[in-house]
Formats: sequence, C-alpha cells, structure tokens
Amino acid sequence: MDASILPSYVTVTHPTKKGGFRMPLSADANIESAVEYEACSNDLFVCSYPKCGSTWLHNIVWRLLHDGDGLPGHIRDHIPFLDFDGEEAIVNMKSQKGMKIIKTHFPYSWVPKHAEAKYIFIVREPKDVIVSLYYHVKGFAGYNWSEGRFDALVDAFVEGRCDCMDYFEMVDEWLREGTREYLHIIVYEEMIDHPENEIRRLAEFLNVNLSTKQQTIVSDITKNTSLAKMKEEDKKWYKTARTTPFIRKGIVGDWKNHMTSEQAIRIDKRTRQLIDNYPTILKTWNFLINYDR
Ligand code: A3P
Repeated sequence: MDASILPSYVTVTHPTKKGGFRMPLSADANIESAVEYEACSNDLFVCSYPKCGSTWLHNIVWRLLHDGDGLPGHIRDHIPFLDFDGEEAIVNMKSQKGMKIIKTHFPYSWVPKHAEAKYIFIVREPKDVIVSLYYHVKGFAGYNWSEGRFDALVDAFVEGRCDCMDYFEMVDEWLREGTREYLHIIVYEEMIDHPENEIRRLAEFLNVNLSTKQQTIVSDITKNTSLAKMKEEDKKWYKTARTTPFIRKGIVGDWKNHMTSEQAIRIDKRTRQLIDNYPTILKTWNFLINYDR
C-alpha cells in the first residue's frame, strides 16, 4: 500500500455550522438530525476527540448516576452516539430516568446547547491519541485502512487531516469555554494518576451527593471501571465489527514505542501552544512533552 495513503473520510457540513466534520467514509452518520437535536435540561453531553478515553468516562459517569451499578447492556443502547445515531435514538432512550448521557465527537460550536444541560470534555496528550487512533482506524473496516502506515497518520494528524477536525483546534475551542460552570474538563492522564480524585470531582459537577451513598462507592467505581475490568467486556463498548480490541493498553506514554523523536517533537510543538494557552488545565502535559518555546 502506498505509504502516504490516509484513512478514508467523508467531510460532512451543515448550513448552520462553521467548517466541516470528518467521519469514516462508510459511517452511517446522521449529522443533520444530530445537529438539529434540541437539547434538554437533563442532558449530559460527554464530548471528546476520538480515543481520548471517553468510553472509560461513560462507564464512570453511568455508575455515578446509578448508585455504582454498571450499564445493564450494550453501551449504545443506553448512551447514544449523537453523531451517528441522530436525535431519534436520544428521544427513544431506554434510560429515561434522571440525566441522559449522550456521546459526541462534535466540536464545541456544533454541540446542541441548553442552559441547564451539562457538558463534559475529556482531553488526552496527543501523541498517545495518535497511537490509539492508529490501532482504531486499522481495525475498523469503515476507514478502509487495514494496511495503513503509522508515519502517514502522524503527518495527517499534525496537519489536522484525521477524524473530526484538527485535534489542536478542537481542544482549543473546548478549553476556551472551560470556565463555564456547565462544562467540566477532564484530562485523561489525571484520571490515570488519581482516578478517585477525578471521580469525586465528577460527582460534585453532577450534583451526586456521595455522603448519601454507600461508603465505598468511589473505590468500587474505580475498581469496576479499571482497564482490566473493561477488557473483560470488550464487545460491550462498540457496535461496528473490528479486528483490533477496543480496550487496548490504556497507558500514558505508549507513543515511545511507536514514534521517532522527530515525530514527537513536531507534535509537541503544537501541544506547547495549547499548554501555553491553558497552563492550569493542562499542567500534567508539561511532563509529557519535550519542546520549549
Ligand atoms: P489506548 O488505545 O491507548 O489503549 P475512547 O473510548 O475515547 O475511544 O478511547 C479509547 C482509549 O481509552 C484506548 O486507549 C483505551 O484502551 C483507553 N481506555 C479505555 N478504558 C480504559 C480504562 N479503564 N483505563 C484506562 N484507559 C482506558
């Protein structure tokens, strides 16, 4: 296969939205209906660029909202994927009680808004996002890229030609809104380092009163959403057939096993700009990049 060939994408647009949104070519997307979905006061949008740990976050959030209990079935039956499933899936959701969790990869400006709805955005250090994305696009036939080359994906990612839109612009757009009280930002590396802290912060954001719950709820959620536990149920987390596992390594720094230092520096250069713009939110990333102004 030609080393420069990229995964196959389709760029979808909507007359009311700025720019385009890139999805796997064979995606059975429902963009018009997704964009036009009218958000409700009890909606909880869990938003991310792909491969930033959103499935892990869904599992945690679901349990926080359901007294520590896990999802009763396949994730897509209870947490619809707005971009693919469209508004009907949300309206018909099985879990009608309490907050409705909705998954999306939309940029901030595309996500349906409601003054009382809540929004969570999870970010991950981009070098590990690229590695995770590499295995994802290779394993999912919709991208038509099973023989694809890692180098080509790195180039495309740095130039903003992979899924959705430019990763750095998408993160910048979300973090710019980071002080809004209806938006909660999670950094994947902080969930890895101290999951219990992050679960407590999430509970506060979601108005889940932990003192009225079982004493061990936070440690139970941490254990029950560990990588090992989620691996045991790999098929619960995705719908479309794939040849690579969905829950893979779940570590910080896997890029060291895949990238040249030249590639890492090209990415770090763009990451540095993000850290400079949001030094408090992204403070952990200072230890993960190797580029000074
Ligand atoms: P890797 O491919 O680096 O292992 P998303 O759910 O947004 O698609 O993100 C997928 C990434 O999150 C994968 O990263 C996956 O292994 C990781 N992940 C999923 N569950 C996890 C968990 N419980 N702990 C840590 N990482 C997890």
